[in-house]
Amino acid sequence: MTDTPFKALVLRQDEDGKTQSAIEQLTTADLPEEEVLVKVEYSSLNYKDGMALTGTGKIVLTWPMVPGIDLAGTVVDGGDSQYKAGDPVVLTGWSVGEKYWGGYSQMQRVRPEWLVPLPEGLTTQQAMAVGTAGLTAMLCVMALEEGGVTPDKGPVVVSGAAGGVGSTAVALLAQRGFEVAAITGRDSTHDYLRQLGATQLLSREEMAARPRPLEKSRWAGAVDTVGGEMLARLLAECHYNGTVAACGLAGDFKLPATVMPFILRNVRLQGVDSVMCPLERRTRAWQRIAEEFPQDLLNAINQVATLEELPELGQQIVRGQVRGRVVVDLQA
Ligand SMILES: NC(=O)c1ccc[n+]([C@@H]2O[C@H](COP(=O)([O-])OP(=O)(O)OC[C@H]3O[C@@H](n4cnc5c(N)ncnc54)[C@H](OP(=O)(O)O)[C@@H]3O)[C@@H](O)[C@H]2O)c1
Repeated sequence: MTDTPFKALVLRQDEDGKTQSAIEQLTTADLPEEEVLVKVEYSSLNYKDGMALTGTGKIVLTWPMVPGIDLAGTVVDGGDSQYKAGDPVVLTGWSVGEKYWGGYSQMQRVRPEWLVPLPEGLTTQQAMAVGTAGLTAMLCVMALEEGGVTPDKGPVVVSGAAGGVGSTAVALLAQRGFEVAAITGRDSTHDYLRQLGATQLLSREEMAARPRPLEKSRWAGAVDTVGGEMLARLLAECHYNGTVAACGLAGDFKLPATVMPFILRNVRLQGVDSVMCPLERRTRAWQRIAEEFPQDLLNAINQVATLEELPELGQQIVRGQVRGRVVVDLQA
């Protein structure tokens, strides 16, 4: 059965250094020599996947590459690991889809230490509606909590709100009882963001304007997926003792800020990384996602796509045109 051909999206670099993608038929003999063989049921599309698919930046480190930084499915053969055939599992990060082959394949071989058992209460499709974006959003929520940000301290704000990380952060924070303001560049997403629980909608243009070193204090905390002037403004608008969780660079990787919010308002800037997040914290975050993410919203934030649709969707996500999360159905 393991010799049966299956489909995978494979990226290759042509002579001019351009990225070319094609759906190819592989067998397990083509897969990397990692310990656990997984039948991939769903993967997802993240900003990084868009960069890999379109050849933007230097995301892909080895060629050829099967991209897809996330996958969820069932173990076919666990080797000598703790995983047994039939176990449902989730994988996000660990440079999978960048350095190691990833989720855009009906079968994949991966290391056991990259896997998290699928938390009870989530299907593999729902786990991929969450994916790296949702895990990152939960790690941002945890960073705010660790910074002492609680709903009674005042409103919180999320930038890039209609994107994958932003949408899930809005939903998770609203669910925890926070008053959530959402920053978006797309008016067409306002109803969607209200549905996720945002009560205030702010324009990207207004919030990306260069701030003064300190602005009027508005936010107990912030989740920033954008970087640049937006992150500088969120810091300048934070309450005394506020925390900003910074996880993205959808706008800019620079941070044109001053030290004023840190030294005059005791503001904390907390970086958030989901890729190398240690297993214990990662497992706790997944557990909380399963317990706290409202099922109806999980279903509302995702659209299902096929492998064949990914090249076009990859272009859309790097242009900032994808709303919420794209789940990839590998068995379609
Ligand atoms: N640290 C980590 O572990 C981690 C994990 C996942 C993602 N990330 C990063 O987080 C960011 C968001 O990822 P994602 O998967 O949520 O991507 P996404 O779905 O494309 O969302 C990004 C959102 O940012 C906004 N945006 C796009 N271009 C912008 C610009 N030029 N200026 C201001 N806002 C802009 C858009 O939201 P609106 O249309 O609502 O304005 C867009 O939907 C990316 O930079 C990604 O690399 C980091």
